[in-house]
Amino acid sequence: MQQQKIIILDFGSQTTQLIARRLRELDTFCEILPYNKFPVSDTDVIGVILSGSPYSVHDSEAFKVDLSQFVGRLPVLGICYGAQFISHSLGGRVEKADSREYGRAHLETVDADNPLFRGFDQNSQVWMSHGDTITAIPEGFKVIGSTKDVTNAAFWSPSPLAPCPTPHAPVFAVQFHPEVFHTLQGTLLLKNFVVDICGSKQDWSPANFVETTVAELKEQIGNDRVILGLSGGVDSSVAAVLLNRAIGDRLTCIFVDHGMLRKNEFQNVMKDYECLGLNVIGVDASQRFFADLEGVTEPEKKRKIIGRDFIEVFNAEAKKITDAKWLAQGTIYPDRIESLNITGKVIKSHHNVGGLPEEMHLKLCEPLKWLFKDEVRRVGRQLGIPEHLIGRHPFPGPGLAVRILGAITPEKVRILQEADDIFIQGLRDWGLYDQIWQAGAILLSDVRSVGVMGDERTYENPVALRAVTSTDAMTADWAHLPYDFLAKVSNDIINKVKGVNRVCYDISSKPPSTIEWE
Ligand code: XMP
Repeated sequence: MQQQKIIILDFGSQTTQLIARRLRELDTFCEILPYNKFPVSDTDVIGVILSGSPYSVHDSEAFKVDLSQFVGRLPVLGICYGAQFISHSLGGRVEKADSREYGRAHLETVDADNPLFRGFDQNSQVWMSHGDTITAIPEGFKVIGSTKDVTNAAFWSPSPLAPCPTPHAPVFAVQFHPEVFHTLQGTLLLKNFVVDICGSKQDWSPANFVETTVAELKEQIGNDRVILGLSGGVDSSVAAVLLNRAIGDRLTCIFVDHGMLRKNEFQNVMKDYECLGLNVIGVDASQRFFADLEGVTEPEKKRKIIGRDFIEVFNAEAKKITDAKWLAQGTIYPDRIESLNITGKVIKSHHNVGGLPEEMHLKLCEPLKWLFKDEVRRVGRQLGIPEHLIGRHPFPGPGLAVRILGAITPEKVRILQEADDIFIQGLRDWGLYDQIWQAGAILLSDVRSVGVMGDERTYENPVALRAVTSTDAMTADWAHLPYDFLAKVSNDIINKVKGVNRVCYDISSKPPSTIEWE
């Protein structure tokens, strides 16, 4: 992809992704790369940001980068550890602070004439989170911002002396975190850096993305045929519509119903896809999945069976399209970012639909691989995909199978579908759906409790309701839904869903719990 970009070198901070999101909000393309993977030969790079880190520069295992790869050649912004690393490497001094500085601070002096701080207010609130402090800045650098406790809170050199022999690009370093919400003018600082200093044209917009991606897909795919697995979720739907724009009917989509989707979901989503003009093969394979899952209670075993069956059903359909050359997937950027953990090891957690037999020799096409989730949604809107598809909550691949605790039967799925439908429809009716990352019902099918309905004693299953707020599903909090709403939903479920006589609300956050129960 030919596109000017900022490189964010990741030193393991928890807020590295946030820096990227802020830059994208400024319509500027950026890539997060491990601290030691700077793409020296990439001529599209217009600037470099060094992230924070859990380490001190003095730790023996601290992450180090060879600054001469870009200092002097490209504008650089060091954030927190990034600032300390610049200072430490270019001749300044970093020492343990007497006490950890964490939280709010104010830039009591700020050089508003400096290009980084253009438009800044005096006393602007910033967010600090560091154990070390920069006690001396390198030669040739100048302090441009200080707080009450931190003299060298921001410093720069218009033309650093070392380590580049022909320096001309500036280096900036800030001890605070401009990417976090509590640094009130953080976005302005990042805008000053990427737009004024690095020269971003701010041309990373949904319209531009659609235009350039459609053109690229046309070129990449030519007259070939492509297969894509649809899940009903946002990512695969947006990928399909984008490809459909590029190659029309030469895209064949396959949507497998494993029988554990939400109530009427298969039919509704098929209708949506047809309205979008997609060429979709819907495969009802629910009998096979139910048969293979019979009596299985162990969560990982359920997942394995569903994953295996899914691939086999998908492959059987895919093989019928004998002239297909490509397999398209809705993989998005967070699925691929090689984020670092404290050991410096790269963690990769995501596995998209894989497993097409090698002999099919399908090439992989991932048109959304650079986008964050919110960008996928913006692109989807740009493509005219209806809002109810774009705004859908994430839903796990194995579907309701991981929300039925105990063995799965079609009857249990039906009960859970009814309860889930009342909950989700209720969230929509009460205007709560869009405030929530993800919601659903869980059937505790091995638990029974006593109730009374009319004059009759009941002995039935409980349903748990789960609704969480999150930005990326890595962490999540239980949603503080109104009591009146919960009361209404509980009442409706118990009255309308035969087999359920008790409703509980899950008030666990992630961590230590997970979003799904299995
Ligand atoms: P957990 O339960 O790990 O879930 O907090 C995090 C996010 O991932 C989704 N999830 C899955 N998605 N296949 C999927 O495609 C799975 O097996 C799976 N398990 C969890 C979950 O719904 C949540 O959004």
